[in-house]
Amino acid sequence: MEKEQTYQDFEQRNKAAELGGGSDKLQKQHDAGKMTARERIEMLLDKGTFVEIDKFVTHRCTNFGMDKHKIPGDGVVSGYGKIDGRQVFVYAYDFTVYGGSLSSANAAKIVKIQTMALKNGAPVIALNDSGGARIQEGVESLTGYANIFFQNTIASGVIPQISAILGPCAGGACYSPALTDFIFMVNEKSHMFVTGPDVVKTVTHEVVTKEELGGAYTHSSKSGVAHFMGNSEEEVLMGIRELFSFLPSNNMEDTPSVPTSDDIHREDERLDTIIPADPNVPYDVKEIIESVVDDHYFFEIMPHFAQNVVIGFARLAGRTVGIVANQPAFLAGVLDIDASDKAARFIRFCDCFNIPLITLEDVPGFLPGCTQEHNGIIRHGAKIVYAYVEATVPKITLILRKAYGGAYIVMSSKQTGSDVNLSYPSAEIAVMGAEGAVNILYRNMSEEEKKKAIEEYRTNFANPYKAAELGYIDEIILPRQTRAKLIQALDMTHNKIRSNPPKKHGNMPL
Ligand code: HXC
Repeated sequence: MEKEQTYQDFEQRNKAAELGGGSDKLQKQHDAGKMTARERIEMLLDKGTFVEIDKFVTHRCTNFGMDKHKIPGDGVVSGYGKIDGRQVFVYAYDFTVYGGSLSSANAAKIVKIQTMALKNGAPVIALNDSGGARIQEGVESLTGYANIFFQNTIASGVIPQISAILGPCAGGACYSPALTDFIFMVNEKSHMFVTGPDVVKTVTHEVVTKEELGGAYTHSSKSGVAHFMGNSEEEVLMGIRELFSFLPSNNMEDTPSVPTSDDIHREDERLDTIIPADPNVPYDVKEIIESVVDDHYFFEIMPHFAQNVVIGFARLAGRTVGIVANQPAFLAGVLDIDASDKAARFIRFCDCFNIPLITLEDVPGFLPGCTQEHNGIIRHGAKIVYAYVEATVPKITLILRKAYGGAYIVMSSKQTGSDVNLSYPSAEIAVMGAEGAVNILYRNMSEEEKKKAIEEYRTNFANPYKAAELGYIDEIILPRQTRAKLIQALDMTHNKIRSNPPKKHGNMPL
C-alpha cells in the first residue's frame, strides 16, 4: 500500500471508530436527551487535552453471530487528559454500541485505565451509561466486572475515584460506582438499581417507577448512594471539575492551593448574633460556614441526605479543608444512623487524601427510639468516633453551642485525638441539657424548685468553662474571630506528624 493510501486508510478507520454504533445510534442518543460518550469527555476535560487509547480494540465474542458485527473501540471510550491543567484518567461507556454493555474487551480497556491511573497517581473519572453485562458474552462479561471491582478496591485511598451516572446502571454494575469515592447523577436521566421495577414487582409485589426506585433524587435524598445530583449532564460534568479542584491527585500529594484575596484576619460581626441564646431555637449552620471560608464559598456534599449533618469542602487561606458540621436547622442537629454514615465516610475520605478536618459542633446527642436502636445506631454511631480517631490529618473542632453527652465525645473531642479544640463563650458542654438533667436528678422537686435548679445547672455546667478548666478546650473565642482562629490552627498543625501503629487494616464497625 502506498504511504498516502495507508494514511487515508488510517483516517477512515479513525472516523469509523469515532462514529461508535453509527449515526443512527448517535442520533437516538441525542433524541433521548443524552450526550454521546465522546461529547461527554470533551466537555469534562480541558479543551483539546483528551488522548484516546485503545480506539481500535474490538470484542472477541463469536456467539449469536457477534463476530460479524465488530465496532472499533467497542462500547467504551477511554484515555487521559487534563482538568485545570491537572492529569486525570477517564472512561465513558458508549451507549450506542450494544447499549454500552460490558464485553470482556471493554472491561480490559477500563482495567487498563485504572491501572495506568494508579501507577501514575492521578484520579479516575468513570462516565456510566450502560445496559450492564453484555448478554452475548455471558460469564466473560461478569468476570470483566470482577476485574474492575478489584481495581476500584485496590486504588481506594490511593487516587480519587469519581463516578457519574448518565443513563442506566443496573445489577451488579452498580458496585463499581459504589466502590468509588463520589457518585454524581443526572436528574430524571439516570438510574441505579440492583434489580429494576419489573423484578421488584415479581418478587415483592411493589409497584414502583424506575425514577422512584433508583433515580437521582431517590439516591441523593433517601439511600445516600449518590453524593451530587445535577439537572443536566453539563451540570454534572462541571460539578466533577469543581470537586477535583479541591482534591489532591493522589494520597502522597497535598491538596492544591488556590490563591485568594480574602483577608485571613477578616472578622464578621454578624457571627456574634447568628446563634440564638435559647438552645432550643434552630439556626442554619451553613450561614456560619459561608461566613468563615474563603470567598464565602462552600462546596456541599450530599446536601439532600441526612441533612442533620452538613459535610463538604471549602478553602481557608487557599487550602482545602473538609467541614463536618451538625445542622441545628434539621432535627435539631441530632446524630442518627444516616448522619453517622454520612459523616464517617467523609472523614475517612479526607484522611485518605490529606485534607484537614474542621468540625463545627452543635449537637444535642444521638437520636433516641426503637427504629434507631433496632437498626443499629450503636454500630453506625461508632463509625464516627472510629473515623475521627483513626484520622491523622489535622483536626480542629469548634463548639458552637450544644455539646452534649456521647455526641460531644464522638464529634472530634480532645481525647479522641483532635489537635485544636475551640469553643464559643456561649457553648454548653455537658452530659445533657439543663431541663433533662434536672428532671432526672430532682424528679420529686416542685416546679419552682426545678426552675431554680435549672438556673443553677446552667450557671455551673451549661458553659465551656468547666471543659476549659480541665484543658479539654484549648481556647474560647468570640464568634467574629472564627475565620482567623481556624486559619491560625490550620497553620499551626500544617506540619503535623502522626501515624497509627502498623496493621493490615483496622476493623471498623460497618
Ligand atoms: C447486550 C444490550 C444490553 C446488554 C442493551 N443492549 N442492554 N446488548 N447486552 N446487557 C442493546 C439492545 O439490544 C439494543 O440493541 C441497544 O443496546 C439499546 O438498548 P434499548 O433497549 O433499545 O435501549 P433503551 O430502550 O434505552 O433501554 C436501555 C436498557 C435496556 C434499560 C438498558 O436495554 C435493558 O433493560 N437492557 C438489559 C439490562 C440488563 O438486564 N442487563 C443485565 C443486568 S445484570 P439494538 O441493536 O436494538 O440497538 C448485570 C450483571 C452485572 O449487568 C454483574 C456484575 C457483577
